[in-house]
Parts: sequence; C-alpha cells; structure tokens
Amino acid sequence: MKQMLKVAIALGFFAAGSLSQAACSFDVEVGDYLKFSAADMTVEKSCESITVNLKHTGQLPAKIMGHNWVLSKNADVQALATEGMSAGLAADYVPPGDARVVAFTSVIGGGESTSLTFSTAGLTAGEGYTFFCSFPGHSYSMRGAFNVNS
Ligand code: CO
Repeated sequence: MKQMLKVAIALGFFAAGSLSQAACSFDVEVGDYLKFSAADMTVEKSCESITVNLKHTGQLPAKIMGHNWVLSKNADVQALATEGMSAGLAADYVPPGDARVVAFTSVIGGGESTSLTFSTAGLTAGEGYTFFCSFPGHSYSMRGAFNVNS
C-alpha cells in the first residue's frame, strides 16, 4: 500500500511538469533564468481556441529579464528572433504585423502575468511549430515544440 502511494505521487509529480498531454489551455511559468516550465506543448485542432497563461515568477524587470511566448513555424524562428530584436521592447520583440507570427504575448518582467487566446483556425495539424521567447538572446534556450494533433 505504501509502495503504491509512492508510485502515485511520483507519477503525479511527473505529469505536473509536462504539458505534452493535449489541452486547450496552458499555464506556463518563467523566472529570472532562460527556461520555460514547459518543454513542449500539444494541442488538438478541435480546440476552437488556445489559451496560454504566462507567469513570470522572478524579480528582474522586463528590460533586463523579460520573457514572452511567441509561436511560429519551425522554419521561421531564427528570422523572427533576429527581426524581433530590431523591433525592440516596445514592440514586444516581435516584428509588427508579421504573418509568420502565429501568436504572441507581450513581454513581461518579474511578478507580472499575461494571457493570450488565439484561434486554432490558423494552425495546421502535423505542421512543425515552435514556441519561443523573442527577448534578445533567449530563443536559443527558451524554445520548445508545439504539436498540433488533428
Ligand atoms: Co525570455
């Protein structure tokens, strides 16, 4: 009995750290470091919309350790990160009006939260998407696969 309880706790802990289970809403945490709490995310096309709740649990301000959550096709990440750098903090480090950007949150600093809801209409099941932080220098480590199931 004690052994089973231990296993259940271990499994529960593992599940809490993974967002690979398909869902329509996600809570993602960031802090004063270059890492998202989710290594990857999986949604289903049947979700009419996707909600991402981004919470910065750190203390550093947005201009020093800001983070956002940006979604694009895999092939567009590098160019968007580079062009986003030029766009600057006022534009949330995202090129304004760029069709390669599927969705993005504003850049937040320590103690702040932001939320984003976008339609799944623009997502293609099976397409390779990546979510990343476009703050200068962050996208190399702050990125993960965004899977769209049919
Ligand atoms: Co970041």
